[in-house]
Amino acid sequence: MDLALIEKAADLLVRARHTVVLTGAGISTESGVPDFRSPGGIWERYDPSLFFLSRFLSEPDVVWKCMIEMHTSGEFHLWEAKPNDGHLALAELERMGIVKVVITQNVDCLHQKAGSRNVIEFHGNMLTFRCLSCGKTYDYQSLMAMIEERPDLPPLCGCSGILKPDAVFFGEAIPQQALKESFHHAHVCDLMLVIGTSAQIEPAASLPIVAKGMHSMFRGMGAGFVKVDAHVIEINREPTPLTGVVSDFLIQGSAGEILSAVLNRVEKKRRSSA
Ligand code: APR
Repeated sequence: MDLALIEKAADLLVRARHTVVLTGAGISTESGVPDFRSPGGIWERYDPSLFFLSRFLSEPDVVWKCMIEMHTSGEFHLWEAKPNDGHLALAELERMGIVKVVITQNVDCLHQKAGSRNVIEFHGNMLTFRCLSCGKTYDYQSLMAMIEERPDLPPLCGCSGILKPDAVFFGEAIPQQALKESFHHAHVCDLMLVIGTSAQIEPAASLPIVAKGMHSMFRGMGAGFVKVDAHVIEINREPTPLTGVVSDFLIQGSAGEILSAVLNRVEKKRRSSA
């Protein structure tokens, strides 16, 4: 873990006016939730084509069978996972008034479980389910009880409509409010932490680019438009397409360890300046 970069990140956090965090599956691997593209990740074990909206609508029973298998296999125990040091450090930085919002691509609700209050679920979540006909929502516990009682798949709403997880499938629109708020924060922030994401999936991968003022949609917005070019710091096990191009620097290693070390330095700086 590069202590000089930890120090640099802590300095930027203490000085920033509007810090935004973007997280991906990598922040949850230390909670036992596998990521998607690391060796042994989810897309090595399950066919991603199952998670296209068109596939769900045409073969809901097949997709539901795979999701139940992921759950019962214990490999993807999303529902029982506990937040790790990385989630907890971000929640503390929000409590200190430093982190304004966490935009997460994850569907595990671990930021909320860690105590983060301002969380934007860019890809929805896998802990609530909605009827495609009447829109009624069900939580995970009631869904499990329904499947216990009537094991046929897909699970059906009382109105006989098909239930779908609130997670955003490939080819499905990002929730409008989440999209709008996320790009607003990317636009106004002066510091963005990009944690545990391979930065390959759009439109989430554009958020750091917008933060850096490099996105054409914002360039030259006419007189009076001044985009504050944010500092963009990556925390990740490995370099990504953002590294050296969009991000100012990459702190390479475990998100949990790095975020704990950064929080520790921020707390010390806050105490010495008090
Ligand atoms: N600490 C730091 N980085 C980690 C850790 C860790 N403990 N564990 C994994 N990583 C890194 C991996 O090296 C990888 O670069 O996190 C990144 C995870 O990348 P992906 O598996 O591609 O996950 P993500 O970027 O969140 O995927 C984006 O793709 O499949 C869709 O909808 C899905 O939201 C997901 C989206």
